[in-house]
Amino acid sequence: MIADRIRRPALLDKITTAEAATALIKDGMIIGMSGFTRAGDAKAVPIAMAERAKTDPFKITLITGASLGHDVDRMLTEAHILARRMPFQADRTLRAAINRGEVMFIDQHLSETVEHLRSNQLGPIDYAIIEAAAITEDGGIVPSTSVGNSASFAVLAKKIIIEINLSQPAELEGLHDIYFPGRRPSRVPIPVVACDSRVGFPYVPIDPDKIVAIVVTDEKDSASSIEAPDADTDAIAGHLIRFFEDEVAKGRLDLTLHPLQAGIGSIANSVLSGLAHGPFHHLRMYSEVLQDSTFDLFDAGKLVFASGSSITLSTACAERVFGDFHKYKEHIVLRPQEISNHPEVIRRLGVIGINTALEFDIYGNVNSTHVGGTHMMNGIGGSGDFARNAYLSIFVTKSLAKEGRISSVVPMVPHVDHTEHDVDILVTEQGLADLRELAPRERALQIIEHCAHPDFKEALSDYFRRACARGGHTPHLLEEALSWHEKARTAGTMVPLTRM
Ligand code: COA
Repeated sequence: MIADRIRRPALLDKITTAEAATALIKDGMIIGMSGFTRAGDAKAVPIAMAERAKTDPFKITLITGASLGHDVDRMLTEAHILARRMPFQADRTLRAAINRGEVMFIDQHLSETVEHLRSNQLGPIDYAIIEAAAITEDGGIVPSTSVGNSASFAVLAKKIIIEINLSQPAELEGLHDIYFPGRRPSRVPIPVVACDSRVGFPYVPIDPDKIVAIVVTDEKDSASSIEAPDADTDAIAGHLIRFFEDEVAKGRLDLTLHPLQAGIGSIANSVLSGLAHGPFHHLRMYSEVLQDSTFDLFDAGKLVFASGSSITLSTACAERVFGDFHKYKEHIVLRPQEISNHPEVIRRLGVIGINTALEFDIYGNVNSTHVGGTHMMNGIGGSGDFARNAYLSIFVTKSLAKEGRISSVVPMVPHVDHTEHDVDILVTEQGLADLRELAPRERALQIIEHCAHPDFKEALSDYFRRACARGGHTPHLLEEALSWHEKARTAGTMVPLTRM
């Protein structure tokens, strides 16, 4: 019954169509929209916006939590609505428009966006468009499968449009923990002291008079698009498991490890799933996206608690999890992304961060975002929030990309997202390089030896030897350092001539 989902009777009058809600959006507005890695995204109003723009062109700045589902970024791009987009995306059509310079994309640490809004460095938000599982008697918004930036969007926006999604389980209520840090510079410490700390409200407290339209929807979240583990991701997981076992043997960790974070993508998801086969137990997560791997670990009896900002699952896993949600609910909390990704909390809890690189260089600088140094893939997402502040900052990738034509270990990365100072451990299917307390020349030896693919080892070693002969703390041949990428751009391959 709709009255169970909209429990403040006065708001029932606000129910309208997506088309009518869309008419409120004017050219030039800044819109804050729910959605974090395909979960809990607004599903009807943005699609109606794309439809409207066919006859009534307009442009907006669109801010979300992270990536959206339901091809919304594609549709908005094709309708030429997006003037500016932030802080993350993962859509091929939008990516192409960004790389043509048609959409101004601001690639931002996910913990930072609402700090900028709160301090008026960004905004103000004209409309927040938020998917909700319910609205409480007081008008509080109960988010659905993600919190992302929705809580602050709703609090800071001039007006709010709600999408009540009847396909989202009513049992989601109680899952969320909505906490707002105070204003700086007099902010008190964020009271999250453990993965399962609950420090806020189970709903977003707002002035209900700001709700100007409610659209009722009934469409499920888009399924996650991660690929199943393969031999390479299994090998990466195996290297990491042996590394953790070794840390336990050295007395640095116990078998419960530290709270874990795993970034988006097929590789990080597979690696986390791999922990189900290790000797570890009573694991906890302090992460942002809870993917299939989180629930694999719950089901394997390995995980005791998971804190995140969204739940993004494959179709089969969503059926398993939401078909029996009471089994998981008391072991999960969803937080605003500024809290799930907060540097203060990540440092305090000693999180082990596992994120994916596109490529890294022989000194351990990581490129996670820019193919060839110029072309945006998805964005930095939360990887920087975790990498800089983690107890152990781990980056994983396959040693080869594009059917073996591209080496993911290169002399110099043409774009740096995570500097050598933020990176502790690098892992490919070839092996693991432990870079802690090593100088750049020592790091290079480890990385080439353990992470590079055999097809490229010789060329990397040769580059490193010749660079060392020229000297420096971080030796390079500047005229040659990016030649691998130039060759990839012009010839589509980095494979050394001798092997072609
Ligand atoms: N050079 C060029 N392209 C490369 C590459 C390299 N060295 N390494 C990978 N790629 C390409 C792949 O070919 C693939 O392209 P396709 O989509 O056209 O097939 C694409 O990058 C994705 O690679 P894949 O191997 O499928 O890995 P993934 O799904 O795990 O994604 C990232 C890897 C880096 C793109 C993804 O993890 C990401 O966007 N990370 C940044 C954000 C982040 O880390 N967030 C973490 C907190 S949420």
